[in-house]
Amino acid sequence: MSVHEWLIYQGKGDPAPGRIDSLPKPPRWRRFDGAPLTGTVADAPPLDAASTRRLGDRTALSAQDPTSLQLINAALYLRRPLLVTGDPGTGKSTLAHEIAYELGLGRVLQWPVVSRTELKDGLYTYDAIGRLQDAQLYGRQEARQAAGPDERPAGRDDSSRDNSTDIGRYVRLGPLGTALLPTLRPRVLLIDELDKSDIDLPNDLLNVVEEGEFDIPELERIADRPGQHTVDVLSDDGRRVPVTGGQVRCHAFPVIVMTSNGEREFPAPLLRRCIHVHLDPARGERLAAMVQAHFGERADETHQDLVDLFTEDPGGELRPTDQLLNAIYLTRNAQQQGLGKLLLRPAAEHGQR
Ligand SMILES: Nc1ncnc2c1ncn2[C@@H]1O[C@H](COP(=O)(O)OP(=O)(O)OP(=O)(O)O)[C@@H](O)[C@H]1O
Ligand SMILES: [Mg+2]
Repeated sequence: MSVHEWLIYQGKGDPAPGRIDSLPKPPRWRRFDGAPLTGTVADAPPLDAASTRRLGDRTALSAQDPTSLQLINAALYLRRPLLVTGDPGTGKSTLAHEIAYELGLGRVLQWPVVSRTELKDGLYTYDAIGRLQDAQLYGRQEARQAAGPDERPAGRDDSSRDNSTDIGRYVRLGPLGTALLPTLRPRVLLIDELDKSDIDLPNDLLNVVEEGEFDIPELERIADRPGQHTVDVLSDDGRRVPVTGGQVRCHAFPVIVMTSNGEREFPAPLLRRCIHVHLDPARGERLAAMVQAHFGERADETHQDLVDLFTEDPGGELRPTDQLLNAIYLTRNAQQQGLGKLLLRPAAEHGQR
């Protein structure tokens, strides 16, 4: 097989939604047996504005370098998360959106990590207080209804009483929890800036990523009650999805893109379970493709002076691609050539007038 034939994700920006189905079966040690969802929730919702904002108009090709391409595909074949490192603005976060766009995997589930982020935030939240308040409110209404028809609040029918017992209304899956729902095709999950996390998060993540499943104890506890074995909860996409036996277990392992600016080292056991890709700053054809994606065909040629200024990088200090895009935008829309160039001045000059 030639190098190109095995590439499921080709990094060209051309949508090829069926190509994900030609992935071979996972290796034996990465097979997951969650019973697949059926009905409308089995498919991911379409890409949202978070993707189109980043990708621009994807008619342009945006060739990734061959080594990164091979590693990204290795992660798809092996059903392993990608750990993407690189300087600011090299396109790490956008990679998740590129994969979702090209392989037709729908809305990207986004989990931005900060120092306070815990594993539980990514898996699910349970609004116990909201449930208690509703139970009290509906309980009072129930008492009034029992007192006589005149006491019944206007516009309410008896079915509203059921809300207080419907625990699923108070459970909301997070981005990681939603990515692990048993969909037939993988969802794309962006765990953004994992290096900003508290020291425990990478280790906590390890187990879930290894097993492809997690429990929701609040649902597990009631799973043997009549009618409570399968409960509809809210997904990160805002849809009601069934969870059976209080356990979420994936079917197709999600495409997980974890990004890091290298602010700290990750534990070896996590690194062992990821495929590491280092993105170099976009230059040449890839940079031209990004400019074209945001400003149309030949825009890179029209703004060659800014592209050159951006790439020559006099202080040896890299500037994020956003700065080039901002400079081109200002030049086109505010007719401020000088302003665009000002944005691209070397960092050392920033303090000067
Ligand atoms: N393939 C692409 N096509 C079009 N634009 C892109 C592409 N990749 C990156 N960009 C643009 O480059 C800019 C930087 O990308 P991105 O935010 O993904 O970088 P990053 O490496 O995640 O940066 P940071 O480390 O600061 O989070 C964004 O404005 C994005 O729109
Ligand atoms: Mg980013």
